Amino acid sequence: MTLLHIAADTDPADVRLHTTDPERIAAELATRGIVFDRWPAEAVTADIASEEILARYRDRIGDLNADGRYRHIDLARLHPDDSDPQWPEQASAARQKFLSEHRHAEDEVRFFVSGRGCFYLHLEPEVVAVVCEGGDLVSVPAGTRHWFDMGTRPDFVAIRFFEEADGWIGDFTGDPIAQGFPTLDELVAA
Ligand SMILES: [Fe+2]
Repeated sequence: MTLLHIAADTDPADVRLHTTDPERIAAELATRGIVFDRWPAEAVTADIASEEILARYRDRIGDLNADGRYRHIDLARLHPDDSDPQWPEQASAARQKFLSEHRHAEDEVRFFVSGRGCFYLHLEPEVVAVVCEGGDLVSVPAGTRHWFDMGTRPDFVAIRFFEEADGWIGDFTGDPIAQGFPTLDELVAA
């Protein structure tokens, strides 16, 4: 279930809002200038090709990209594979990649086809955590300090929209703020 969790940026225990109400989530994000939308989710298993998944969303992708702003659109996907002894290490490495506060030169636009991930937006004086699930589209504005947690057992399929081929590269702030906030696993267990 999509979840919005807002706390003071200087005190993670000072929780100002914790809600799964879709209308409230959309309204709270809108007042902060964060694009958030809902598209139909798809049940996606590891055996379905990425091209097939992208094809299913061709019309919606076309609408979102009507002005051709996004020149690179692809799929990020991780599916747990307990038969692969390398999986835990790969999952951990993938998780660590964007688990620290960073920002990008362009908007970070993601549509979750299935699975789950959490964006933490550092919007002073708050940290706004959005646990996205299948069907959620979110855009982190360019320059916004944020981090992303895919959890200890990453399981998601997300369409990524980039203006530049290297738009995913993060400029890390060095601020350890992320370490003080509840993880994705903790947020969904709460
Ligand atoms: Fe990012």
